[in-house]
Amino acid sequence: MAEKKNGRRSQAWFGGTDKRSTIHRAWMLNQGTPPDNFDGRPVIGICNTWSEFTPCNAHLRDLAERVKRGVLEAGGVAFEFPVMSLGESSIRPTAMLFRNLASMDVEESIRANPMDGVVLLCGCDKTTPSLVMGAASCDLPTIVVSGGPMLNGKHRGCDVGSGTAVWKMSEDMRAGEMSPEAFMDAEQAMSRSAGSCMTMGTASTMASMMEAIGLALPQNAATPAVDARRRTLSQYSGRQIVDLVRRNIRMSDIVTRRSLENAIRVNAAIGGSTNAILHMIAIAGRLELSLTSEDWDEIGRDIPTILNLQPSGKYLMEDFYYAGGLPVVMKYLLDRGLLHGDAKTVSGMTVGDQVEGAENFNDDVIRSDGAPLTESGGIAVLRGNLAPLGAVIKPSAATAELMQHTGPAVVFEDIDDYKARIDDPDLDVSEDSVLVLKNCGPKGYPGMAEVGNMGLPSKLLKQGVRDMVRISDARMSGTAFGTIVLHAAPEAAAGGPLALVRDGDIITLDVEKRRLELQVSDEELNERLKFWTAPDPAMRTGYQKLYVDHVLQADRGVDLDFLVGKRGADVPRDSH
Ligand code: FES
Ligand code: MG
Repeated sequence: MAEKKNGRRSQAWFGGTDKRSTIHRAWMLNQGTPPDNFDGRPVIGICNTWSEFTPCNAHLRDLAERVKRGVLEAGGVAFEFPVMSLGESSIRPTAMLFRNLASMDVEESIRANPMDGVVLLCGCDKTTPSLVMGAASCDLPTIVVSGGPMLNGKHRGCDVGSGTAVWKMSEDMRAGEMSPEAFMDAEQAMSRSAGSCMTMGTASTMASMMEAIGLALPQNAATPAVDARRRTLSQYSGRQIVDLVRRNIRMSDIVTRRSLENAIRVNAAIGGSTNAILHMIAIAGRLELSLTSEDWDEIGRDIPTILNLQPSGKYLMEDFYYAGGLPVVMKYLLDRGLLHGDAKTVSGMTVGDQVEGAENFNDDVIRSDGAPLTESGGIAVLRGNLAPLGAVIKPSAATAELMQHTGPAVVFEDIDDYKARIDDPDLDVSEDSVLVLKNCGPKGYPGMAEVGNMGLPSKLLKQGVRDMVRISDARMSGTAFGTIVLHAAPEAAAGGPLALVRDGDIITLDVEKRRLELQVSDEELNERLKFWTAPDPAMRTGYQKLYVDHVLQADRGVDLDFLVGKRGADVPRDSH
């Protein structure tokens, strides 16, 4: 029936006339696929993270159908396949623990199956990096289609942003300024359509990163999930992946060091999530591209945050889309010589050509003309004896007066200790204290949970305190805000200096100088280290054992050591 055409990968399965090829074809035919669909036309995999336990991605079956339409229109054939889906809001102990596991699922599913190119359907925070990491290790032609953000939350006449409103309202409730009833009422008002968090949290940030590196079509970041144009974008992506396969344009042809530099600057300009630094370093690692946290700081430094979105600013993703979306931000950078305009994209156009005509329709949402939201945005990477391998802070979401601060530590040994004591009226804490949370890093939690934005002691909340310096080896939700130092590395559970901090130790944070210092002598710290023992792991077998034994620290993107790098898509051995 079929002859080998164009040396396509899928033809190694479907292209012969022998028993083996018959087996590969015959079972596929039970879906009613016409036999000529295996004649050598591009076979596209649609990698879907649809799951009803991942509410942000629960509408992706619909988008998969739209992608299929586009693939068919362009003369290809598409097959949808499920992979592990990580719902940020429910997965315990934290979705980040399973990002690397899901990436293995994705990588092996792509490599093992007869596809020539792949469309990645993602949305919720970890679903984007897990899919892109896995696909990067295979390096086939690849396009990302994000699910898109939810419509703006609306509550009692106000906009409420996913996550951001929860953090704020929960502090208001603990301060006695909001009733539990009103808090519960806000729940439904916040999540009123399909889609992912509509703040500039990690999902919106990663969707923006995909657009910035050229792996998704323009307006992938901001088009609302339920806007008809999200479906159109999906259909266009289906057409486009067929073209990429025909021209043999792989992910590594699109994502280069230059496109990663573009992503760093876009992240600064949009006030993107601190999680992006971990995910983008991990993606770069899979593609064997060099990207360090220092690069992130240097390249992103002095880029103004011009996007006025929560948690740094006021508006939400729907407003961003109506204002013109990410192309406007990218054009702002391009016009200032801060974007590599020659970087390639999956649309077939360069980044520069793609954003050239972008127009800003609301200059309070996107401050591309007047005063920016923050002069120097980005993610600052701190160093010092408290974090020899670095720690991060997001200045646009922090309090200006606290960016230089010295105060005594109030130490919590782990998250349980924090929960047990934070509201204790006798806790020796003042607004000048520095809250230190240990053992919430990659090995410690395990999985580096989003608990770094620890809530303040309620007795201080009642006095009107709304921000304090907080330091941990954890992450925080991209929707969170505050003067919060995260990702301290090496983490406490790996014997990093964070493990050695004691109550009352003086800590200095100086974001301008990029310093994070513990005012304790090296001799004293060495002495304390002699008495330190690693905490007991929660599980000694299974995936958690593999994870804890192999996870890299934050400066390496928290990937598993044996997953770094490209392994390609070749499988020399047949299954029959
Ligand atoms: Fe899924 Fe925020 S919980 S994007
Ligand atoms: Mg999040």
